[in-house]
Amino acid sequence: PAHKFIKLNTGAQIPTVGLGTWKSAPGAVELAVEHALKFGYRHIDTAAAYGNETEVGIGIKASGIPRSEIFLTTKLDNPDHLNAAEALEKSLKNLGTDYLDLWLMHWPAPMTPGSQGPVFDVDWLDTWKTMEKLFKAHPDKLKAIGVSNFSVEFLKRLLASAEVIPAVNQIELHPSCPQQDIVDFCNAKGIAVTAYSPLGSDNSPLLKNEVVKKIAAKHGVQPANILISLQANRPGVSVLPKSVTNSRIESNFSVIDLTEEEIKELNDIDKTLHFRACHPSWTGHGSLGFPDCK
Ligand code: A2P
Repeated sequence: PAHKFIKLNTGAQIPTVGLGTWKSAPGAVELAVEHALKFGYRHIDTAAAYGNETEVGIGIKASGIPRSEIFLTTKLDNPDHLNAAEALEKSLKNLGTDYLDLWLMHWPAPMTPGSQGPVFDVDWLDTWKTMEKLFKAHPDKLKAIGVSNFSVEFLKRLLASAEVIPAVNQIELHPSCPQQDIVDFCNAKGIAVTAYSPLGSDNSPLLKNEVVKKIAAKHGVQPANILISLQANRPGVSVLPKSVTNSRIESNFSVIDLTEEEIKELNDIDKTLHFRACHPSWTGHGSLGFPDCK
């Protein structure tokens, strides 16, 4: 199919469809990762905060697919902003790998271990500078660095002093949370975008939406394929459907080409159905300026 890879600003290629593992529990995620890789996936996304890096690593080993053929992403957890070097080593150890294809700052929201929300005396821009240093010092361990959950405002502040342009900004994207301003800004700056929760996460009303179902029936595919393809059809966007169900892992791997008219119809869903899968607890904090998807 079309949409196989997106070129990063490092020159590396990120496969357009990857397996998401947010909420994929240990016990299930090993099998999901193994199945996905055996089926043909070559892009796996996890995070220290998901509490499943060890099991993702077990799934990768069990698949028998060489590490060099897999694009593996993990993320720096919020309470580790002041401990980035140690956190990197821990993620590598948990995953049972020598290197990451991509290491993301999970949120521009430093926390202290045990804190309930962000702490404002730690600046995520300093964390980015630490990540840059680690990237430059350890090209054997880090192939690319990037960010996640960054709004345009945050990206502007980062780019104003960054020495390394983030390779990727990973954000929530689905018809109810299109965040077109962020995608446009990233495209203009050479930052690839990766879509998480493309289906709208658990129990998503999008899978039951009449427009989605109609377009799916027309193409003879599942509603999920339409939502995944909608993201994969956007320039510079890769997409991470999450599943721990083998049959869904398989069917989610099919991306189809949507017509401009179908894309417009899907984008119009936003006018009636607003929700966000991943409510940032600090939304509304003026100085952080998070975009609210209503
Ligand atoms: P499960 O993991 O039990 O298979 P998102 O990718 O937006 O985060 O959505 C993940 C949610 O969607 C999970 O609850 C997952 O369930 C479910 N899901 C994944 N693929 C499909 C599919 N093809 N059809 C219906 N639901 C799906």
